Amino acid sequence: MSAVLEGQRGRVLNVNDEAASRHSVSQMLRTSGFSVLEAANGSQGLARAREAPDAIVLDVRLRDISGYEVCRRLKAAPETEAIPVLLTSAPHTASENRVEGLEAGADGYLVQPFEASELSATVGALLRIRAAERDAKRLAGDLAEAVEIRDDFMSIASHELKTPLTSLQLQLDGIARLLRGRENGSESALGKKLATAIRQTDRLSVLIDDLLAVATISQGRFTLERSEADLERVVTEIVEGFQAEAARANSTLTLHSSGPVKLRIDPLRIGRVVQTLVSNAIKYGCERPVDVTLSHAAEQARIAVRDHGIGIAPADRKRIFGRFERAVSARNYGGLGMGLYISHRIVEAHGGTIHVEPAEGIGSLFVVELPTR
Ligand SMILES: Nc1ncnc2c1ncn2[C@@H]1O[C@H](COP(=O)(O)OP(=O)(O)OP(=O)(O)O)[C@@H](O)[C@H]1O
Ligand SMILES: [Mg+2]
Repeated sequence: MSAVLEGQRGRVLNVNDEAASRHSVSQMLRTSGFSVLEAANGSQGLARAREAPDAIVLDVRLRDISGYEVCRRLKAAPETEAIPVLLTSAPHTASENRVEGLEAGADGYLVQPFEASELSATVGALLRIRAAERDAKRLAGDLAEAVEIRDDFMSIASHELKTPLTSLQLQLDGIARLLRGRENGSESALGKKLATAIRQTDRLSVLIDDLLAVATISQGRFTLERSEADLERVVTEIVEGFQAEAARANSTLTLHSSGPVKLRIDPLRIGRVVQTLVSNAIKYGCERPVDVTLSHAAEQARIAVRDHGIGIAPADRKRIFGRFERAVSARNYGGLGMGLYISHRIVEAHGGTIHVEPAEGIGSLFVVELPTR
């Protein structure tokens, strides 16, 4: 082994009240490349630990305060808790004493007599663990900061995108009205193009709302605006709004309802959930019929959306509710995997549940259950 310079490997505090033994341990540490601070009893050890050594070698048989107690106090104080502590003790130490040492928070235990190489290797290992922990903490900090920056960026970008888009939507609606006035009911090629442009801006608007919702959820700023609402009305409006899209997808969309359901909910947000489920059912529904069923019992209202499309493998049924999770390839179906994630959070915030049930035959059955109280 090439010669190591004293101090090159870090600073170690050596706490031992027997001069000869302290001297020999210090000597071993120095020849192994550490610089050494010494303390001749427990209270001195506690005081010198504030000088921020990289590690502490602590004898358990101290006369003023036991080594175990010194260790416990080091680990209880915020300024010293991160310093690795290696306990050393007399030969033939019973295993329960070693256990006591480790329970006091020690990071390692060596029984006398030990060789310089054994001490050096053990202290070295403790320092490596400490360095790895520090790296991990720093990385976690960097990561949390990066996530925060991303979420802030997403919310600011969404707001900024929303402003010109809303104005564009108003302009397009205005043009469509003017055109209808002139054409007296007959739909021109221009009218059709305009309708397509309006649909695309509507989709863009939903996407931006979703991005904003994801950022709001990540930032922990997601809250409901509850009011007395009729769930049947919320669902009916969404289903009516999707009729044209269902027709374009060569599908049919039917609502089966058992009547009004008065609930205290956030109607816009619950509407968003129904919208997600219905748009998915049409998108993944292979041009086959989609059925929405609203029912309620004493404790619960239930919305079921059933399609006969590509279906979802059992292994994916939980995962798809996670952020950006998708179970289809981007080549076959576009999308960002936000809809179900947001829906799950919305339903959860209402104290309800959302899940996919294995549907009989082909397709999927999504069920939302909301408490009625
Ligand atoms: N009715 C359905 N049939 C089959 N798979 C579905 C259905 N609904 C959702 N999925 C699967 O769940 C995944 C997540 O759905 P989600 O609505 O969250 O995202 P998306 O549709 O991919 O994108 P977007 O955020 O644009 O809605 C989808 O990518 C798809 O794999
Ligand atoms: Mg979707």
